[in-house]
Amino acid sequence: GGERDLAGKHVVVSAGGTREPLDPVRFLGNRSSGKQGYALARSAVARGARVTLLSANAALPDPAGVDVVHVGTAVQLREAVLKAAADADAVVMAAAVADFRPETYATGKIKKKDGQEPAPIALVRNPDILAEISADRPRPGQVVVGFAAETDDVLANGRAKLARKGCDLLVVNEVGERKTFGSEENEAVILGADGSEIPVPYGPKDALADRIWDEVVRRG
Ligand code: PMT
Repeated sequence: GGERDLAGKHVVVSAGGTREPLDPVRFLGNRSSGKQGYALARSAVARGARVTLLSANAALPDPAGVDVVHVGTAVQLREAVLKAAADADAVVMAAAVADFRPETYATGKIKKKDGQEPAPIALVRNPDILAEISADRPRPGQVVVGFAAETDDVLANGRAKLARKGCDLLVVNEVGERKTFGSEENEAVILGADGSEIPVPYGPKDALADRIWDEVVRRG
């Protein structure tokens, strides 16, 4: 702590939750507030990094000293990540990204019709940004960090996800209706592709952010 150990580095952080529109007034979304990702951005600035924050629908003020790019959907987030990651030393995907989006977008508000059953919503798969960036690192030696939001079998699911996504570190946190999403605190285990397992006790999201950058610096 207190060191400028990210000086001269460019880091990219995604935060918030994507919204996948159905029509001009409705979307499929999730409960991410963006707080964990914004904490990562603030912490990296304090440690001397140049920070690009890709923010998906977070109702938070832009942190000082950070380049903020606002996006809406998973597809827009992917474009922004690929662009920002080109010269990045580290990419941290804290955003909650929708795995699926509605197959069609209605340009006019979808109406309910009297006496008719509701129409099912057909979904198509979104690109997996973390898997893509992990597989073809735009910059050699780039450290890629993912998050895993799990409700059960947190560690086992985290290990499997780390292997599947191919990132260097995976921050596993438990989520629920009133857990982690939107709160000021978090508790997590930082899993490394090298087999390491670092538990981070319940505390401010800023403290977890600092712990994550410690591990990135160690690998950078
Ligand atoms: O924003 P807060 O209210 O502070 O809450 C923080 C948080 C719970 C959102 C955060 O700590 C967190 O866990 N973020 C990741 C949420 C998530 O989407 O988890 P996942 O297990 O569905 O995805 C795994 C990883 O793949 C994530 O790094 C995600 O960004 C990435 N992903 C997922 C799907 C997809 N199509 N593309 C991706 O890149």
